[in-house]
Amino acid sequence: VVIVAVAVGVSLRQQPHQEEFKDTFINRCKEFKGDNCSGIWEAFQQAYVNRDPCDVPVEAYDPLIAAAPFKPECNRMMFWSKTKDVVHDFTEKKDCFVTLEDTLLGEVLDGLTWCGKKDSSETFTSGCPGWSDCVDNPVRSFWNRVSAAYADVACGDVTAMLSGSIETPFSPGSIFRTVELKRFDSSRVNTLTVVLVTQEEKVANCTNDSLKDLQMELQKGIRYNCKEVPESQISACSSDPTASCGSCW
Ligand code: APR
Repeated sequence: VVIVAVAVGVSLRQQPHQEEFKDTFINRCKEFKGDNCSGIWEAFQQAYVNRDPCDVPVEAYDPLIAAAPFKPECNRMMFWSKTKDVVHDFTEKKDCFVTLEDTLLGEVLDGLTWCGKKDSSETFTSGCPGWSDCVDNPVRSFWNRVSAAYADVACGDVTAMLSGSIETPFSPGSIFRTVELKRFDSSRVNTLTVVLVTQEEKVANCTNDSLKDLQMELQKGIRYNCKEVPESQISACSSDPTASCGSCW
């Protein structure tokens, strides 16, 4: 009985959170062929360890961006808002566009939660503030910072997949609206094409008021296009190996 109890106790014992999270981070980084994954980890965790989890500003991740800079992928950069599943299904199956979540930092941290605590050098994965519990939380500041860095290197013809199933596709609190769009630089970006993903019932089309706001917020000199594309057409194109990148919409 004692042996069984000890065995169960050992097998159920959770790894320290920090170790488990760090392993996930390093493994995902290596799978991505990142060089210097331990250096990237150090730059990442200095942003939030030993800090109040509601006091991690966006700038805390500046050293991380310096350690793992984004490289521009002109004409292939894809932004999105409220279309997470359809856009990633598309970029995973077809090598046409690259979203932030297809880059090293985006892929490593996608779906994870983390925070630190004052007077501790550990990384915690539970008991962390939610997205809206406080503004300066580690996860939200991270996504805001990496999104800004990704938008800063946008170049050539840029695409954004927005949702035609909501009233306001260019959504007020979204990262795409508050962080990314205004950083597109007219000396680097030629065109922004909005792909408005529609379902049987269209709630918004390309004449939507929020898309007029978008055009006003876009730097002068960047051309703008909008196309309404049924989600079924995007899914069909994703799964068709003979479809070329330019033929999906
Ligand atoms: N609560 C929790 N998570 C949130 C919240 C929230 N209120 N808002 C945003 N997120 C996180 C989630 O992980 C969500 O799936 O951001 C993701 C995208 O949110 P959306 O509102 O769909 O879109 P948006 O805020 O515009 O962010 C997407 O930013 O990540 C970059 O380059 C990427 O262009 C993309 C854009």
